[in-house]
Amino acid sequence: MKKNQLRSQNWFGKSGKDGFIYRAWMKNQGIPSDFFEGKPVIGICNTWSELTPCNAHFRDLAEAVKKGVLEAGGFPVEFPVMSLGETLIKPTAMLYRNLASMDVEESIRANPIDGVVLLCGCDKTTPSLVMGACSVDLPTLVISGGPMMKGKWKGKDIGTSDVWRFAEAYKLGELSQEEFVEAEACMARTQGHCAVMGTASTMATMVEALGLSLPNNAAIPAADARRKVISQLSGRRIVGMVQENLTLSRILTREAFENAIKVNAAIGGSTNFVIHLLAIAGRIGVDLSIDDFDRLSQDIPLLANLQPSGEHFMEDLYYAGGLPAVMKQMLEHLHKDTITVNGKTVAENVTQSEIYNSDIISSLENPFKPNSGIAVVKGNLAPNGAVIKPSAATPALMKHRGKAVVFENIEDYHAKIDDPDLDIDENSVMVLKNVGPKGYPGMAEVGNMSLPKKLLEKGIKDMVRISDGRMSGTGFGTVVLHVSPEAAAGGNIALVQNGDWIELDVDNRSLTLEVSEEELENRRNNWVAPNLNINRGYVSLYINHVEQAHLGADMSFLKGKSGSEVARDSH
Ligand code: FES
Repeated sequence: MKKNQLRSQNWFGKSGKDGFIYRAWMKNQGIPSDFFEGKPVIGICNTWSELTPCNAHFRDLAEAVKKGVLEAGGFPVEFPVMSLGETLIKPTAMLYRNLASMDVEESIRANPIDGVVLLCGCDKTTPSLVMGACSVDLPTLVISGGPMMKGKWKGKDIGTSDVWRFAEAYKLGELSQEEFVEAEACMARTQGHCAVMGTASTMATMVEALGLSLPNNAAIPAADARRKVISQLSGRRIVGMVQENLTLSRILTREAFENAIKVNAAIGGSTNFVIHLLAIAGRIGVDLSIDDFDRLSQDIPLLANLQPSGEHFMEDLYYAGGLPAVMKQMLEHLHKDTITVNGKTVAENVTQSEIYNSDIISSLENPFKPNSGIAVVKGNLAPNGAVIKPSAATPALMKHRGKAVVFENIEDYHAKIDDPDLDIDENSVMVLKNVGPKGYPGMAEVGNMSLPKKLLEKGIKDMVRISDGRMSGTGFGTVVLHVSPEAAAGGNIALVQNGDWIELDVDNRSLTLEVSEEELENRRNNWVAPNLNINRGYVSLYINHVEQAHLGADMSFLKGKSGSEVARDSH
């Protein structure tokens, strides 16, 4: 690309008053004049925040990216965007995914930027940044922050999936308050995001499988010096991407999305993957549906033995060969010729990789588990679909018929779940309503409801649970999620009553509420939509425009690209 074709030259290449203003204030940072004379300007979009502890090391990564950009002849400029910390933000970081994506989109488009490096880590920071960048469609490269090292406690390796186990043990009095607090520090002992194949790792894997990052981006631990190296190399590479005009839409083809779905199946990625990938596809303009996730992952076995579907952690995956080794194993299932950010094809990127530990990365012929991926179940309880992760579920419950025990909302659940008089047994089907995109604005991760204490005491570890909400990627169980349409939008899940029979049949992909259409119509006529009582601000905008889960829960007016056109001068 010639210098006068650079987008940034619409600012820095100007003469007269406008050019003076565009350059002069930048020079207060000590930038020499030649930086404004045709060097590709690389925006480093940083989600660093002390309120997003998983991304708290990103200033170091940004410095490494800057080194690489400078080495390749570019002009690095770091800028902050809204950062979504999964553990602190109430009511749920997902409520703000779309808002953060708007921040990213407008920050990129409004500024003199030729190419972008996205620094992503904690769960929602990846989809929000990729979604926003897709709507602008510049050359873009993703660097993930990397997983924490695995936790160590009482001689055991621990990670985020243990939070659910610890919570149940605490509820049963098997863990003391002191032990609980001690485990906190032992689990999160280094920088980085959750160490298991939760949503953050799923997102890091997703960007690598889509071709948006350099090979091995997904699994290098945050504390490993090679995380800085890949950041520096990414900084070098983004300058070349600008020169080649290798935009996001050239990489994010339908084939790239299909690859990502298959890789997600092989590594046992989070159910949140569905919602985020659909939203990203919607932004870049690729036609993807919830049914694609089921169809494309059906032939893919689970190759990676990682929590919560297995035993190991992300750092183990890296030592065992990383994501390239997984992708090499399953290459016959992938589109080999899709282009990635380094200009090479998927096949070229993985061909040299090897498996160093077959307990962690298994072969196609002898997989860790035959079932993987995301199953999409449909029926009168979820006409537009609901999802379940078979690899994290109990095989015996994949076909199950039971009586509904209904919780009208999350408050109702908390009030009743440990009531000794609650009419529930291990064969019941727990149904939680009003935790979908509109009903619990943002669609909270409450779908893997903790079981009643009285059943935990009997040794019951899993039950069928159904909701219109989501589940943490670190969660597990026979949990049907993302029921669409949701209760607050008048979906049939709103009409379920205590004692109704429900049948889940994952093999046949069905979820049936055994109530006649006539009776459902009666109940529908008496149904009253919940009053969410939100009339102002972003949350009001969100509720009025958010789409249902099977479409990715983006806001309707954000779909598609606006492109990178430069606005007129305003001085
Ligand atoms: Fe940030 Fe898990 S809380 S990745």
